Amino acid sequence: MNVALLGFGTVGYGVYEILRKTPDIKVSYVLDLKKHDDIEAISVTDIDPILNDKSVDTVIELIGGLQPAKKFVTAALEAGKNVVTANKFLICESFTELSKKAKEKNVYLRYTAAVGGGIPWLINLSRLSRLSPPDKISGIFNGTTNYILDSMESEKAEFDVALKAAQDLGFAEADPSADIDGLDTLRKIVISANIAFGGVFDSNDTDLFGIRRIKKADIEAAESLGLVCRLLGTAEKTESGASIFVEPAFLDKNSPFAAVKKNFNRISISTPLDENLGFYGAGAGRYPTAFTVVNDCLDIKSGSLEAYSSSFEEKCVDNSKISHKYYVRCPIADAWLSSVTEKSVGEGVITKEIPVSEMHKNAKRLLNESDELFFAEIKVGV
Ligand SMILES: NC(=O)c1ccc[n+]([C@@H]2O[C@H](COP(=O)([O-])OP(=O)(O)OC[C@H]3O[C@@H](n4cnc5c(N)ncnc54)[C@H](OP(=O)(O)O)[C@@H]3O)[C@@H](O)[C@H]2O)c1
Repeated sequence: MNVALLGFGTVGYGVYEILRKTPDIKVSYVLDLKKHDDIEAISVTDIDPILNDKSVDTVIELIGGLQPAKKFVTAALEAGKNVVTANKFLICESFTELSKKAKEKNVYLRYTAAVGGGIPWLINLSRLSRLSPPDKISGIFNGTTNYILDSMESEKAEFDVALKAAQDLGFAEADPSADIDGLDTLRKIVISANIAFGGVFDSNDTDLFGIRRIKKADIEAAESLGLVCRLLGTAEKTESGASIFVEPAFLDKNSPFAAVKKNFNRISISTPLDENLGFYGAGAGRYPTAFTVVNDCLDIKSGSLEAYSSSFEEKCVDNSKISHKYYVRCPIADAWLSSVTEKSVGEGVITKEIPVSEMHKNAKRLLNESDELFFAEIKVGV
């Protein structure tokens, strides 16, 4: 197998190091913004030599972001090369287009590291979904936000302090928006839902609320209820498609999600046979992610795995059928919030059971009036 590596950063360099010791896989090219003199591969800053070299059968995309990653991946598939990527943004946004292109060109498109990083989650999800779609997937998909929430709980840190610590340790990027606003989690749950429910969901139809506005007072409110806060991505099968949403959740202290500390991930799946399986591990990091990328290459080499998804039917997101109670902290008086309030807790209130779509619709409305709003689903007994 002759591979070309696009991107030579955290994961790209890790993959290069592992592949140097992997028999029968040669890194022929490394594409990066700058040239590298000290590597055993041809260093390029332009994709064309890779596309034109017929001996390169597999391209590994580890640049990240939508462009130029999409342009490069599309060109590689078009040139008849297999593609391995860890890019959840790219796969979530262009799921159908890239999967169809790979099918048309009879090449592999593997993206196991895009969801769960070092956890072989998508492989197991796809195996579990073969006989019948799961009922529900729920999980902590983002290590950065888990690190922040865990620090706020265990060290009584304010959000800004916990975020800065995550940045200093290299868990959070200089611009942490995709993590703290829940977008990273959303992309991962949408990709998981596509595979689990055999179709394609539009991430724009889902509901999303991150942890950007969480305060110490919210963690204290959770604690006063005997609960802990985690950011969860959820996809649940419904009659018309699936309910898909990302929101903070107050969970029982003995919930397996509450036991997830630091920057770790945990994803749970419930199947129609009433099985509940949990997948736990490093959701990111140079070597855990790089090992998953290299394993995708080995799977392609052995030709043992089918594509993750071959159904491109557009599926409907409906968050109006799933309801739960919410903790809401809202500094302004609001008639809707008063009408759904059951009791007060700390600086916030607990609502009666309300549909997910109703909570998110009203949160968007209230955010136009005050940027201080925070809410979390109350998820007990899970
Ligand atoms: N880091 C993780 O733990 C992790 C986990 C799971 C998935 N992923 C995914 O893996 C991918 C790579 O992440 P990473 O953390 O390795 O990112 P990274 O450290 O920022 O590396 C990206 C690399 O791509 C290079 N690059 C940027 N624009 C380029 C262009 N136009 N042409 C060629 N090279 C370009 C960068 O060069 P410069 O450094 O010069 O800008 C850098 O070497 C992303 O899709 C990410 O979501 C990462």
